[in-house]
Order: sequence, then C-alpha cells, then structure tokens
Amino acid sequence: MARALAALLALLSAASLCRAVFVIEKGGLKVVLPQEAKEKYPGGFDVALAHFGSPRYGGTLRARLIYVDPAYGRTETCGGGSCAFGCSDFSTASPPLDLRKEGGENYIMMVDRGPTSNPCKFAEKVWNVQSAGARGAIVVNFEDRMTTMEAPDEDDEANVKFLTNITIPATFVTKSTGDALKALMKGGQPVYVVMDWQDILPKKQQVSWEFWTNSNDQCGPVCDVQKEFIKEFVPVAKEFDAHNWTVFTPHYIVWICPTPYRSSSECSSQCIHKGRYCSPDPDGNLTQGYSGSDVVQGYSGSDVVQENLRQLCVFQMAKDAGKAYLWWDYVTKFGEQCDMERKKYGQECAEHVFAQINQDNWSSVDKLRQCIGGQQDDSDHPIMEAQLAAQKGNTSTGEGEVFILPTIRINGVQYRGKMATAEVLRAICAGFSTGNMPQACSKAMDDACMQGGKGYQDCASRTDGKTQCVNTFTGYNCTCGHGFISHIDRTGEERCLDINECLSISQLDPKCTCERCACNNTRGGYECITDIPNECASDHGGCWHADFKVKGQSRSFSACKDNLPAYKDALAHGQPVDSIPLHTCTCPPCFTAVERGGKISCTPKCDLQYCDLDVGVCHAEPGSGGVGAGVIVLIIVAVVVVLSGMGYVAYQYRLRSIMQQEVRAIMAQYMPLEDSDPDGALAGLGSRLKRLAGGGGGSGEANGGV
Ligand SMILES: *[C@@H]1O[C@H](CO)[C@@H](O)[C@H](O)[C@H]1NC(C)=O
Ligand SMILES: *[C@@H]1O[C@H](CO)[C@@H](O)[C@H](O)[C@H]1NC(C)=O
Ligand SMILES: *[C@@H]1O[C@H](CO)[C@@H](O)[C@H](O)[C@H]1NC(C)=O
Ligand SMILES: *[C@@H]1O[C@H](CO)[C@@H](O)[C@H](O)[C@H]1NC(C)=O
Ligand SMILES: *[C@@H]1O[C@H](CO)[C@@H](O)[C@H](O)[C@H]1NC(C)=O
Ligand SMILES: *[C@@H]1O[C@H](CO)[C@@H](O)[C@H](O)[C@H]1NC(C)=O
Ligand SMILES: *[C@@H]1O[C@H](CO)[C@@H](O)[C@H](O)[C@H]1NC(C)=O
Repeated sequence: MARALAALLALLSAASLCRAVFVIEKGGLKVVLPQEAKEKYPGGFDVALAHFGSPRYGGTLRARLIYVDPAYGRTETCGGGSCAFGCSDFSTASPPLDLRKEGGENYIMMVDRGPTSNPCKFAEKVWNVQSAGARGAIVVNFEDRMTTMEAPDEDDEANVKFLTNITIPATFVTKSTGDALKALMKGGQPVYVVMDWQDILPKKQQVSWEFWTNSNDQCGPVCDVQKEFIKEFVPVAKEFDAHNWTVFTPHYIVWICPTPYRSSSECSSQCIHKGRYCSPDPDGNLTQGYSGSDVVQGYSGSDVVQENLRQLCVFQMAKDAGKAYLWWDYVTKFGEQCDMERKKYGQECAEHVFAQINQDNWSSVDKLRQCIGGQQDDSDHPIMEAQLAAQKGNTSTGEGEVFILPTIRINGVQYRGKMATAEVLRAICAGFSTGNMPQACSKAMDDACMQGGKGYQDCASRTDGKTQCVNTFTGYNCTCGHGFISHIDRTGEERCLDINECLSISQLDPKCTCERCACNNTRGGYECITDIPNECASDHGGCWHADFKVKGQSRSFSACKDNLPAYKDALAHGQPVDSIPLHTCTCPPCFTAVERGGKISCTPKCDLQYCDLDVGVCHAEPGSGGVGAGVIVLIIVAVVVVLSGMGYVAYQYRLRSIMQQEVRAIMAQYMPLEDSDPDGALAGLGSRLKRLAGGGGGSGEANGGV
C-alpha cells in the first residue's frame, strides 16, 4: 500500500515535465604521473560527487591511486578472493592493509561497484576505504553510466556512522574511466592523480544558497543528521547573511498527485489544496492519520505539507520585515518542541513557536494564518507554486532539479556531500569570487596552513622570511612571517626584511633587559642572553691592579674595564661579538700605561691626592715650584689677546678693501674710472649722488669731477 502511494505521488519531473533533469554534479580527475598517462588523458576524467563524505569544494587532492587486486601488484586477499569490491574491512584482509603505514603517501583507493550477486552499499565501501587509511575513494561502475551515490537512509546504527563519520571525499566513475585508470596501473609505475573540486561552483561576489528540506522529522538517520546540521549551522548562516556575504533562501520539496488521482482518499490524506501539493506519509502507514477517519493518531503527508507551507510563510514574513534570519530560530525551535514522536507536530505547537520569535510584535499569528490560507482550498498557492518552479531548476542555466532530501544549492549548483557544518560552509565559501571570500571562511576550511598541513610545513621551512602560511582556500601562499616586515622591491617582488626586536620592541622580555643580560637580534626574532659574566670580578680579569694611599686612605686601582655596554650594543645590532671581548685592560684615570711584554701596567700621572680620580686631571700642588695652573691661564689669556688684536687689524684691512671694490663697481656704472686714482673716484661719486638727490640741479656739476 505504501509503495502504491509512493508510486502515486510523483516528483514533478516524472509527472509533468520531461525537460527537467537531475544533474549529476561532477568534479574532475586528472592523472599527473606517469608523464605518458598525463599526456594521454590531457582533459582528465569526470567523476560524480557522492552525496555523503567530505568533498573539498574549492580545493584539490593529489594522491597515489591504489586498487587492491592481485593483478595490480597487491598481495592482499579478502575472504580468499580479491579485495577490489571493498566490501569487507581491510584490517581483516590477509595480510591486513593499512595505507597509513605505506611510506607516508596519500592514497586514493579505487573500488568496484557490486558484486552484482551480493552488492554492498556505496557508503560501506567508502567507509572501508577510509578505515584502510586512504584519503579519497573512487567507486567504479559496472556500466558506462554515472550516478550520484547516496547514503542509505534506513534507520540503523551503521548508516548513522556512514552519514556522520565518513570524512574522506567519495566519487563515482564510469566503467570506461575505471578501465582506463586500471590499465595505467597495470604498467607497474605508480599512478598519481589529482581530484579537483575547484570549478564546480560558479563564483559570485555574493553567494546565494538554498536549503531544500522537509519539515517531516520521521525519516530516520537522515532527518536526525539534518536536525543536527540546522542547529549547528544557524550561527554561521546568520552571520553570513547579516554581513550580506550570502543570501539564503529555504525551500521545501513538493510532491504532486497526478491529476486523475486527485480525488482519491490516498491523495487527499497526503496532499493539500486538492492534491496540488503533497508529501509522502511520514510513518509509511496509510491507515494512520487518514483525515476524516477515526484512526487519527499518526501523521499524514498533508500535515507535513501544511507545516512546510507554514515555515515558508514564516520565512516570507520575516524576510519582508528584514529579519530573514528568524526562519532559523523558528525551525530549530519547532524541531525541538514540536516533534512527531511526542505527538506535538501541528498547528498549535507551531503557533506557539511563532509567538516565541514574534515577541517584539513584528508580525502576528493572524497574518501567518492569512498567508497559509485554507488547507483544502481548490486553488494554487503562490508560495507553493514558487517552490515547484524552483524545484524544477532551469535547464537553460544547467540548474538541475532537486530530487534528494535534503539538498543545498549554491549559486544554482547542487552541493554534494554530507550535511555537516564544516563541509557545507566550505562549499559556500568556494562560491565566492576571488577576493570576496570573507575571513570567516577560514574557520571551516581544513586548510593546508593548519599545523602539520603541507603549507604549514612548506612555509615554515623557508629561509627567505616567508614563513607564514596564508590559506587561499584553493591552496596556500607563503608570506612574510612573524619577525619580518614585507617590502616590495623595484621589480615588484616581495622581500621580507628582518625586524630588529632588540631595538624596536618596547616591552622586551625582562630576561633581555636585566643588568647582565643582552638581547641578541636573530633573523625573525630575538633571544635573551642572560648572566653575562663579569670577567673583572675575578682577579681583575688578569689586568694590572694595585693599592695606593690617597688622602690617607688605601684605595684599590684596577685596569680591568667591563665591556658590557659595547657588547650589548653589538648584539642588539646583530653584529658579531666574537671580536668584542667582555673586558679590556685600560689604565684607570690618573694613570698612564706602560706596556711591558704585551701586558700593560699603570703608573700614576701625578700625586694621586691632587688628581681628580673621575676625569684624571692633575691639579697644581700648593707651594710647588712647578708651573702652576694660574700661570698657564695667564699665558693663554695673553695669547688670546694678541691673536684677537691681529685678527682685528686684518679684519679692518679686509673690510676696507671689500668696500672699495664695491664702491668702484657702483661708480663704474656712471663714469670712467682710473684705477690709479681711487680718491678722485670717490669725490666724483659724492657729487653724482648729490645730483640724483637734488632732482636735476645745475647740469654743469654733472661732469665736475672729471
Ligand atoms: C563516529 O564519530 C563519533 C564522533 O566523532 C564517535 O564518537 C564515534 O565513535 C564514531 N563511530 C565510529 C564507528 O567510528
Ligand atoms: C545588507 O544589505 C541591506 C539591504 O541591501 C542593507 O540594509 C544592510 O545595511 C546591509 N548590511 C551590511 C552589513 O552591509
Ligand atoms: C498501520 O496502523 C494500523 C493502526 O495503528 C495498524 O493496525 C497497522 O498494522 C499498521 N500497518 C502497518 C503496515 O504498519
Ligand atoms: C505584543 O503584543 C501583545 C498583544 O498585543 C502585547 O501584550 C505585548 O505587550 C506586545 N509586546 C511588545 C514588546 O510590544
Ligand atoms: C532560466 O534562466 C534563463 C537565463 O538566466 C532565464 O532567462 C529564464 O527566465 C529562466 N527560466 C525560468 C523558468 O526561470
Ligand atoms: C598568492 O600568491 C600569488 C603569486 O604570488 C598571488 O598572485 C596571489 O594573489 C596570492 N594570493 C593571496 C590570497 O595572497
Ligand atoms: C646571536 O644570534 C646569532 C644567530 O642570529 C648566533 O649565530 C649567535 O651565536 C648569537 N650570539 C650569541 C652570543 O649567542
């Protein structure tokens, strides 16, 4: 009976539209080694993405191909035969297979679909491949057709494990692709391939994505996983929408009842609007929940469609109020409070949940009811019609029809992979065009820059300062790391200049700043050198030393000079310190050095009690017959007086000759001058100046001086 109904209710395409197609979302597979193989298949192969596991949207996976069959160089057997179907745990193979122990390489394992006599599930194969330590799985079809591998949805523990615990990407290839790959492996050389998820999604500045779901919560592990996903994804979805990075739209898959059967009791129990919009019975028992029947304990398809419509109305109203994110709150709360198992599913609970998200009265229950309309209205409902249209996809843009529940469509392309935050977020992030990917995307990326990742190791081992790994989501870049500053040189190339922390960091480690500590600038960092020995402290560093009586007191003098400041300075500047000794032997002030046999010894310049011990200047001893300081001062004063007197005379002479030259230059403009008669020239100048000032007095005077 249930089967009959399943056949009766049809997804849109089967019933009315043969043009709509289920598009198999494909990625690429290319052979990179051996070289001949790469050249033989330059375009690579198509692979169909599985609807479970962890695809690497926006990225690639390079690995060595392996096919566990005796004809391809593997000795393992499973139950006495080939392991090629991957239907049993590889740890029970003989000998047991663990790829993690095979040379630290990444492997992608190829397994065959089937066997036809007793096939095992796709997900089970992939699970076994993952358990054997491979990083990716390729399932090879037994015919030349592609299909989208789905996870089984029957409610048993193993299936839940497949849905949630498969963390490798899984793909599917046709028989001819499989045969081609196997032929390459037969050559005996290792075959390396790259799986490519980079160009699956169109790239947009703002990513639009749709979540195709169903409010039915009785669909086994698939529904549980979906509920879990929604709960976890809410904060991410809200954040991305709030920043306008993404535009999100929820959708509900709609089944229809073929027109001839619309009045049947089956259709009326599973559909609303007279058979227009339907959903399969959630408990699969048609006798339960017949509307109008006296057995009403179960839920029927019509209850589910009605709730789907309500959720769509909630979204529409919330969006109109600029609060589209409230849809997420509604569905999480509805999932928690209104489950079928406790018989809470339905209008009453739904409106209760609506009241919770409507606490500040941005709308009302009346408006919600109005939006939904009558359950048995014999008319189209605009919101449900929009679902049907969107579900069809658009053949002219290559947008496929939505068949699988749940489905996520990103930039018009259906996501294939498990419903989990990390995987879905990664796919959404892969939908951004270059430069538009928000920083928040890095959270969900299993990126090469993570510690231990390829990029991390690669960048860390560089010697040019580009030690920091930047995740570009499609790979990684190494840029100037900690302790370096980026500098673009004239050729446009980035160079990393070392930062001298010893001189530029204000809060150095106290271990570097203590009295006998120093900061050693190293490339990309600094280190503190502590407990620098004071070599003068023990036996004066081997330098001269002696005791002298000064003003009646015994004082100790030492030629050992601690060289710590110079040493610290050299270290901080990154200069070699090998040539800088920690101490030198230098006579103290008031002593003069005498070198004897490579060692210096010191003798006082004068009687130490008349010497300034800090600066080493000897003063005149009172009553001594020697040349006193006073005499020296007098001599200096006399010399200064004489010198300045001579300077004054010279200055005067020079000034006079400069003036004469200038005067002559001025006069030369007005009259011929005789070099030999400077005084006459001066007289002429006087009369000339007077004439100018008088404004044209007697003309005779003009030449008076000539
Ligand atoms: C699946 O993953 C969960 C959580 O990571 C873990 O607790 C559980 O043991 C795993 N199941 C299997 C069969 O590995
Ligand atoms: C997002 O877009 C809406 C409407 O276009 C605008 O009102 C809002 O300010 C934008 N938010 C941000 C964070 O840019
Ligand atoms: C459907 O439900 C009815 C009433 O609860 C029950 O008698 C019947 O056995 C169920 N049928 C199936 C196939 O579960
Ligand atoms: C919302 O409306 C209800 C009933 O009209 C009222 O009791 C409540 O105080 C209102 N809440 C707010 C936040 O305005
Ligand atoms: C399909 O896409 C094309 C191109 O974007 C558009 O012109 C057309 O209206 C779309 N058709 C439907 C049914 O949405
Ligand atoms: C990574 O490096 C390449 C080549 O140097 C450069 O073109 C690209 O813009 C870089 N990407 C990022 C995200 O820095
Ligand atoms: C200072 O650091 C450099 C490395 O940059 C090292 O070669 C040198 O030995 C260090 N100097 C001392 C005194 O530790």
